Amino acid sequence: MLVFGGTQSAGLAWSVAKMLNAELGKSEVKSFPDGETYVKILSKVVGSECAVVNSIRSNNDLAEMMLTLDALRDLGATQVHAVMPYLAYMRQDKRFTDGEALSAKTVLRILEELSDSLTTVNCHFLNAGGEAVYNHVRFMNLDAVPLLVNHLGRKVDRPIVIAPDKGSVGYAKEAAHIMDCEFNNLSKKRISGTEVVIKSKDLDVKDLDVVILDDIISTGGTIVEAVKVIRGWRPASINVGCVHGLFLKGIESFKGVVDRLVSTDTVENPVSKVSVASLIAEDLRR
Ligand code: R5P
Repeated sequence: MLVFGGTQSAGLAWSVAKMLNAELGKSEVKSFPDGETYVKILSKVVGSECAVVNSIRSNNDLAEMMLTLDALRDLGATQVHAVMPYLAYMRQDKRFTDGEALSAKTVLRILEELSDSLTTVNCHFLNAGGEAVYNHVRFMNLDAVPLLVNHLGRKVDRPIVIAPDKGSVGYAKEAAHIMDCEFNNLSKKRISGTEVVIKSKDLDVKDLDVVILDDIISTGGTIVEAVKVIRGWRPASINVGCVHGLFLKGIESFKGVVDRLVSTDTVENPVSKVSVASLIAEDLRR
């Protein structure tokens, strides 16, 4: 197998190729002055199975993935696997108000059309890992929560898991099961794309090590607001883990706010210390 890494996931693709003892594919990606994406496959792929590992954070990443998958097929790859460790657009899996485009459906359908298999990690609208079918598109949803929890679990003595909103309760439950501790949740009201309000309630976490887990940290608003509430309860420490650390406002906004911050490397950032390479390698072996 040849493993191609895209511009967002070069390091992760390298680790996956190493674990699979596979050749790392070579390609060239650049942007034209008008913003169009250009892709050139440099490795010989005729008769080979190929995997493309690249997180999709932006429209450019999506264009790069589409062009790469289609080019690999055109050039004679026998099978082409699309691996998107982080896959944007999955937050719009429903029409929340009339007339909205179902971006999750559109993006998954396009990627399905261009590949033989689709894999992502902790897709936003799913609560469990494993094979999923959404709008007739079949894909593998890998679960990185156990990796995150094992990492954080080694650093705390008396954990309690708190979900920052109801949407993350599934993660909190899974984490509490792994760490054999209690879990609870806060509730969140989203005011805008950047503003959230966390409703307070009384929880006894005094002298405990609070572990907060979320699938995505985007602006950081959810976690920062949740931490403001939890600090008031005087826990021993506040430890935050997320699968996809976008950190649109930088990780500086967490300095002095949380005691520990970690993410996986689905999005490469200064705190992406937990690698999902083994999950992806295992999936590609199958
Ligand atoms: C929401 O449903 C997600 O699970 C995250 O809580 C959300 O994407 C975080 O966004 P932000 O960091 O901008 O508050």
